[in-house]
Amino acid sequence: MTVSNSAPSSKMGLVSRLVNGILAIAPLFNIAKKRARNMMIERAASMGVDWLKISADLQKQDLDSELAQVQNPDLNYPEYYLKPFHAYEEGNLGWLPATEVEVAAYAVHSRIWKDEAPPIEGDSRLRQSYFEVLKEKMPTQPQDILDIGCSVGMSTFSLHSAYPSAKITGLDLSPHFLAIANYNTRTKHPELLDQVQWIHAAAENTGLPDNSFDFVSCFLIFHELPQDAARQILREMRRILRPNGYFALMDMNPQSDIYAKMPPYILTLLKSTEPYLDQYFSLDISAELVTAGFEAPSITANTPRHRTVVARAI
Ligand SMILES: C[S@@+](CC[C@H](N)C(=O)[O-])C[C@H]1O[C@@H](n2cnc3c(N)ncnc32)[C@H](O)[C@@H]1O
Repeated sequence: MTVSNSAPSSKMGLVSRLVNGILAIAPLFNIAKKRARNMMIERAASMGVDWLKISADLQKQDLDSELAQVQNPDLNYPEYYLKPFHAYEEGNLGWLPATEVEVAAYAVHSRIWKDEAPPIEGDSRLRQSYFEVLKEKMPTQPQDILDIGCSVGMSTFSLHSAYPSAKITGLDLSPHFLAIANYNTRTKHPELLDQVQWIHAAAENTGLPDNSFDFVSCFLIFHELPQDAARQILREMRRILRPNGYFALMDMNPQSDIYAKMPPYILTLLKSTEPYLDQYFSLDISAELVTAGFEAPSITANTPRHRTVVARAI
């Protein structure tokens, strides 16, 4: 289903502002954060995924040596990135978030569809629904792909499955996440060692050459960005994309009724873990893409609560 290209009308309104008021009170914010995390751990357990054990086992690996291979020690982190995210005080900069992010994705994506399919398949169905839109909206087979906000590599490895002959670069601001991505490549995907590379950089200032990619994929990063950062990233993506290259973004759909009708309790838990959600929901992504040098994008609802935005570089 294609959704409107026009200016965004986020469906979160009065309830959302009320929730912001609740979360401005520090003790309530802390309770909400803890509850959000516990809810995800319980949800993982209900699918037979032992969240705490998976994280503990990963932490026993020599992650410091993986980190040394990917970290850029001179990188300056943007201020907005140093805030708590996803119920972690250290945000994305630590071993606990890095070793839990994959199980968290399985839990968060387990209930996107309310059908009979096993909840554990939610994450792979989400990724598949993105590729189905891409197949329709991006007629070319990209050969040089950049995966922005690649985290521990889940989106990067799935891009490889969809475009097996492409060279893929995964870029992220968290050296801890990239260390796990590096570990995952060596241990689970050794055949990709020459085909996939990891870069520790900010997406707004990648240091990558002009015109060096024919597809930039942003899977679930834009809801983590303040609007200024989102605008800078779009400009940077236009710079490194070749003319006629494609930009795609898959993330929450601000026009989905699910957010409008979300029970205040659940909305409180969601907002307690996502500091820039309001800014993402009110960003006019179509206008921003055009300003950054892209054609007007297509916007397609790929799940009941996600959208895929695809734009061609002029
Ligand atoms: C929700 S995760 C994305 C997950 C991943 N793409 C996947 O599909 O599983 C968002 C990622 O974006 C990264 N990120 C946020 N802001 C960034 C920025 N300005 N530059 C690079 N990476 C950024 C975070 O470190 C995090 O790994």
